[in-house]
Amino acid sequence: MYILGIESSCDETASAVVSDQKEILSNVIYSQIEEHKPYSGVVPEVAARAHLEKIDVVVKKTLADANLSLEDIDAIAGTCGPGLIGGVIVGATFAKSLAFAKKIPFIAINHIEAHALSVRLTEKVEFPYLLILASGGHCQICVVHDIDKFQILGRTLDDSVGESFDKVSKLLDFGYPGGPIIEKLYHEGDCERFSLPRPMCSKGNCDFSFSGLKTAVLNASQKCNSLQDRKDLAASFQKTVSEIMSFKMKQALDFCFDQGIKINAAVISGGVAANLVIRENLKKTCGLIQFLVPPVRLCTDNGAMIAWLGIEKFKRNQINLLDFPPRPRWPLGENFYARI
Ligand code: KG4
Ligand code: ZN
Repeated sequence: MYILGIESSCDETASAVVSDQKEILSNVIYSQIEEHKPYSGVVPEVAARAHLEKIDVVVKKTLADANLSLEDIDAIAGTCGPGLIGGVIVGATFAKSLAFAKKIPFIAINHIEAHALSVRLTEKVEFPYLLILASGGHCQICVVHDIDKFQILGRTLDDSVGESFDKVSKLLDFGYPGGPIIEKLYHEGDCERFSLPRPMCSKGNCDFSFSGLKTAVLNASQKCNSLQDRKDLAASFQKTVSEIMSFKMKQALDFCFDQGIKINAAVISGGVAANLVIRENLKKTCGLIQFLVPPVRLCTDNGAMIAWLGIEKFKRNQINLLDFPPRPRWPLGENFYARI
């Protein structure tokens, strides 16, 4: 079985063909970085227009790379939210139109759920598993009990972790996209130079907060006189975020242990999971517990994770009508909400 997945919720126009045998036949990503660079961040209207311009080219290339035609596709999975509504409308409408024209099933995908399940495309991991979901729009820790059953242990009270990378990069004048830029600067700066706060780390829960850390970086940046000073501050920020993530992972592991939740692995996914410093630290924190993470290219937005969740849902007969609405907000596991 082949599923075509289409993604357009933020600043990547992406699509992929994935088989139920976990084979990624093609995975095409058109990044809008150049369009948004002048503004040091994603501009929703610019994003929507760019999706509209590129979506047909991206999908055609996806089919060509897979050496398949639309006739070979069994179902279309399209991101219907959450995300920037203009982009979501473009991708979801394109996906539905293809499904309608070819008379094949349409599967409405929650983008966050796709990040959360993406690890199962490349790794053999059974439910339940512990997950830190860290992207540009979201930051939460949960136990994934099933494809649509998420027990939320904690979440950010303000910024997401990806957003804090982006904002810190912007305020230090290093530009967009912040995550990969700051990760690179970590190796060029002295991460011990600035002592930054680790908000919520004296509290024994799984919630995050990044706004105080961002303000601390802003204050420290006022004392930076040279490029090297700013690199040192970026490196110190990277180290601090990595420590926060590890601290919270430990809290969550302890919670699972105390509650008798027998997790099969600890996982991080979402764009920030591409960060090798964070990955290495989390691996150490997990000790003997199996630590899994999707390959770097499947951490940031892509069509393969959308197609994969399509397969997981299709196998369970979870298909949708074509009037499924595009949703700017769509909480993870809204039908199974258990917060500690
Ligand atoms: O999952 P994603 O591609 O889009 C959303 O669903 O939001 O995540 C994008 C976020 C951005 O904030 C970006 O700065 C961050 O992921 N990111 C990283 C890295 N690569 C992307 N953060 C830290 N280190 C990275 N290497
Ligand atoms: Zn994403």
